[in-house]
Amino acid sequence: MPATTVAVTGAEGFIGSHLTEALVADGHRVRAMVQYNSFSSYGWLENLPPDVLDSVEVVLGDVRDPGSVQDLVKGAETVYHLAALIAIPYSYRAPHSYVETNVTGTLNVLEAVRHLGIPRLVHTSTSETYGTAQTVPITEDHPINTQSPYAASKAGGDRLADSYHASFGLPVVTLRPFNTFGPRQSMRAVIPTVIGQVAAGERTITLGDLRPTRDFSYVKDTVAAFRAVGTASAERVVGRTFNSGTGEEISVGELVTVIGKLMDAELEIRSDADRVRPANSEVMRLVCDASRLRAATGWAPAHTLEEGLAATVAFFRDPANLARYKTGIYNV
Ligand SMILES: NC(=O)c1ccc[n+]([C@@H]2O[C@H](COP(=O)([O-])OP(=O)(O)OC[C@H]3O[C@@H](n4cnc5c(N)ncnc54)[C@H](O)[C@@H]3O)[C@@H](O)[C@H]2O)c1
Repeated sequence: MPATTVAVTGAEGFIGSHLTEALVADGHRVRAMVQYNSFSSYGWLENLPPDVLDSVEVVLGDVRDPGSVQDLVKGAETVYHLAALIAIPYSYRAPHSYVETNVTGTLNVLEAVRHLGIPRLVHTSTSETYGTAQTVPITEDHPINTQSPYAASKAGGDRLADSYHASFGLPVVTLRPFNTFGPRQSMRAVIPTVIGQVAAGERTITLGDLRPTRDFSYVKDTVAAFRAVGTASAERVVGRTFNSGTGEEISVGELVTVIGKLMDAELEIRSDADRVRPANSEVMRLVCDASRLRAATGWAPAHTLEEGLAATVAFFRDPANLARYKTGIYNV
């Protein structure tokens, strides 16, 4: 059977690079959008083995540019749309770029999929759209409460995706992952922030609020969720939104203890006021109910938090990987 072509936006990023690798392992050719940049950097795709890259066609472009999205998706069997600006603190500073990328960029993907008749679009949401849990665990029927410009821009993209399904029958499915971690994640997220500082020799770890709880999935499980909704029969998934997450929560403070044990390091925490978010913007609690995804596709997480953390520690302990990070600054 000839390999089918699938397209991925945000392919050079953390989750996108793992998804690209998995799609190639599934036998696909991947057309991978890498955001155009003056360094000709392909981001984390540069870390993939040459035999994987043989099946990857890099397309430099930008989701804010309708033409570049059309070039990417033409002829694809499935489009996985992951490109986004994702950092919450930077969304306080640069909200316009979040709307342009996460709302208008998503609109461009929806339009391209519609006009080119692509059979399946997987759109990426985020658990941040729920805001602090009002009921736990959080199902897809939980109210949307956007506490940051990032969350608002992602919810805007989600609403457009829903509207394109309702208005045009667009074959879109929305995956709403809860926090995801693993090798290649940037130090804007809490797990790489802790592991990266310890791997660089720090024993006093600088953090913001230690109280919020999150539901952390290992990246391979999140990637499996993307593939599950990308390949399930249309009547099971199209037009629907699916949470992915483990159903277990841990606070930032507890996480530091677990990582300290795993890395065999006595850690102290220094709270940095600059890292504490405005009180009404901080999402205090997120814990996932993924039973809809499990019922529709059979997906279930296959890695424990400890297994995922061990793989992430091994990644950050490799000096070649650590050298790609700035562990001494607050990465917004
Ligand atoms: N990491 C998490 O915990 C998590 C949780 C829920 C949802 N998500 C979602 O998953 C997706 C991937 O996130 P990630 O954690 O891999 O972040 P990431 O920052 O590593 O990946 C995002 C990618 O989008 C690309 N991008 C940004 N602006 C672009 C533009 N204008 N045109 C083309 N590409 C552009 C970036 O270059 C980057 O490679 C995002 O949609 C994010 O909202 C992430």
